[in-house]
Amino acid sequence: MEGLQDRGRSVAILDLQQPPEDQLRADRVLFVECDTADPVAVQRAVAHVRSRVERIDGLATCAGIGGAAARQAIGASQWDRVRAIVNVNLLGSYWLLEACAVAMAESGGGSIVLVGSVLSRKGMAGMSAYSAAKGGVEGLTRSAAVELADRGIRVNCVLPGPILTPMSRTGFEADGLSAEQWIERMAGSVPMNRVGVPEDVAAVVLFLLDEASGYMTGVSLMVDGGANVG
Ligand SMILES: NC(=O)c1ccc[n+]([C@@H]2O[C@H](COP(=O)([O-])OP(=O)(O)OC[C@H]3O[C@@H](n4cnc5c(N)ncnc54)[C@H](O)[C@@H]3O)[C@@H](O)[C@H]2O)c1
Repeated sequence: MEGLQDRGRSVAILDLQQPPEDQLRADRVLFVECDTADPVAVQRAVAHVRSRVERIDGLATCAGIGGAAARQAIGASQWDRVRAIVNVNLLGSYWLLEACAVAMAESGGGSIVLVGSVLSRKGMAGMSAYSAAKGGVEGLTRSAAVELADRGIRVNCVLPGPILTPMSRTGFEADGLSAEQWIERMAGSVPMNRVGVPEDVAAVVLFLLDEASGYMTGVSLMVDGGANVG
């Protein structure tokens, strides 16, 4: 968010949870409480944002829920949990992309960045629902990029590896690990020998939102310290 504000942009945050007070007090920030898994709520929230700003020229779909808190094998899944994982991680991105693409097309274009995961490329036991949802995010990126290119809208995707955030914390705590134990375990599978921080992903999202990436669409960029190649 800070990176966008530094570039003089206004930022609307659509989330179930209100962000910390200091973020809300910042200039040009609008918070809209929204369940991004609900297409009607997304349409309403985007309409509200459009009523408050001149145009929408960027979208980053960051809302997500992890799968690790409910690790289980195929055949022993909790159906409601599987549905929730797909609803938030995949369909939430779809509804947001659809609502914002309409607004962007009307004002001449824009850039959309979907947040996927390296788990769309790499398997992990107990993460089938999450991997399936994130694989869908990559498919959505590619077809939407083709559909929207002639409207001046670019669609790209970032695939983060292990990043230390509240989501990963929920996962490793459910596995009985401390932060130090999780960092040591994860860093061991990363050639750069560290887990990522949110700023590592934010920098790539900013690049894809920016005109610096103006001739890129339909791509997935891994932000994983080399985990997919090492
Ligand atoms: N942390 C990692 O290691 C990692 C790795 C790969 C991909 N990702 C992806 O990065 C994105 C951000 O994850 P994070 O690690 O910062 O997690 P996080 O839990 O810190 O943040 C996720 C945010 O999504 C919001 N959210 C959840 N469900 C929502 C809903 N239905 N409607 C609106 N908002 C909702 C939460 O309130 C929270 O603010 C997610 O898409 C996640 O799948 C994370």
